[in-house]
Amino acid sequence: MSNYNFPPGPEGEGKLGCLPEMRANPMEFLEKVALEYGGIARVNMGSYYSYLVSEPKLIKEVLVDNYDKYKKNTRYKQVRMVIGEGMLLSEGDIWKHQRSHAQPKFTAKSLDKQVDWITSLASDFLDSWDANVKSGKPVELEYQFNLLTQLLAGVWVMGDGFKPRAQEIFGIYNQIRMNWPEMTDIRASMLKPKNIKREINFRKALVRLNKCVYSLLEEYPSIINEDIGFLKHLLPRENVEQSIKSQKRSLRDQLLTLFVTAFETTATSLCWTMYVIDKYPDVQKRIYEEVSRVIGEDTPTAETLNKLNYTEKVIKESLRLYSSVHSFSRVALEDHEIGGYRVPKDMTVIISSYVTHRLPQYWDNPYKFDPSRFDKDRMVGRSRFSYIPFAAGHRNCIGSYMALMQSKLVVALIAQRYTLSLSEGHKVEKHAATTMRPKFGMKMDVRSAAA
Ligand code: HEM
Repeated sequence: MSNYNFPPGPEGEGKLGCLPEMRANPMEFLEKVALEYGGIARVNMGSYYSYLVSEPKLIKEVLVDNYDKYKKNTRYKQVRMVIGEGMLLSEGDIWKHQRSHAQPKFTAKSLDKQVDWITSLASDFLDSWDANVKSGKPVELEYQFNLLTQLLAGVWVMGDGFKPRAQEIFGIYNQIRMNWPEMTDIRASMLKPKNIKREINFRKALVRLNKCVYSLLEEYPSIINEDIGFLKHLLPRENVEQSIKSQKRSLRDQLLTLFVTAFETTATSLCWTMYVIDKYPDVQKRIYEEVSRVIGEDTPTAETLNKLNYTEKVIKESLRLYSSVHSFSRVALEDHEIGGYRVPKDMTVIISSYVTHRLPQYWDNPYKFDPSRFDKDRMVGRSRFSYIPFAAGHRNCIGSYMALMQSKLVVALIAQRYTLSLSEGHKVEKHAATTMRPKFGMKMDVRSAAA
């Protein structure tokens, strides 16, 4: 190795190192580290060190050039308890098989064919906001978008069998979220003692979730013929019942992985998009004009959605400043070198889109909301690795087209019907949980767009 040094970085204080600061405000803390120590930094987390890699060319070294020297960070055993060995967490041949088998269902061509039923469900859902227009009661946007994206993801993944279970699964998932056992590491638990009651509730919710998915699987052979869900793609044409019985656990993991990865990310990202559309009246005006010109009062189709160029740039810019997946990490499988620094085996490497999307060397005036950054001529010469809301490399987000398509659809359906504005006095703050969500939700007043 040319240089056997560790990269520079903060040590923090005492036994806990930087952990208290990291826990209190992870994104702001990591941004500060990148600005102070550069594109690769080593952070003392108390009982271990982690690297933060923020410079685009080094992100490429981790995710592409040295991809085989890393595995996904699977230390979060709770995530594994919920979604198991699906495509997000599996490794090696199992992952390869799951990803290549799923890929054809995630292409633009395949997803564009699904637009009609997705539009119909989303349209019916959004019509229910008419009641808010009449009563003047605000909508809680984060809650509403989670309901909507769960319905869309649930039907897309599990098929029609999801619909009668939608409410139950929504309730169970909320129970899981509210009781997420946060602390896994001994030092970290010194900051906050383990909450046994939360853990019991979390496990109870998991039992209910499994029961619900297994009952859907048992019923499935009776509806498979007419079904549209991804589940059908996972099963053979013959001996369906036998396959379900023998692969019950694996099917559960694959379905829940796709369901969970699809809905919360899209819901959170949609919340931030509606937030910026309200915040910047010129952006709102251009979106409403575009929707009116391209779609008018017609039902959106794959073809018209693909023509919403400005709307897409707004969604992309909102994913830059408010990436719902604010960071992800990898664990080194062997000693190697990144950017001339030593990466020892077992080192956790954090990549944060929140941080990289704000680096002033790569983004002019980084805090400014400016959709024209995604104009073709302004994208020339920009590193592909400076914009990573969907990660990059072989384990990038397989659902990025679906996320953009659904986001454009929901924005267009809202623009045809309503205008949303943040309720007076409602505080908006970013909170880095599993996704970067609005800490106090997003309460918005709804008016009819025609008013
Ligand atoms: C705005 C919405 C979304 C964002 C920001 C997002 C972001 C990401 C990111 C950053 C990763 C990489 C995580 C890592 O490496 O640890 C990822 C992986 C993944 N995403 Fe998404 N995602 C979104 C929507 C979706 C949708 C709609 C689906 C559809 C099912 C989906 C399915 C997946 C899957 C299966 C993986 C794992 C891929 C693999 O490891 O091979 N995502 N996503």
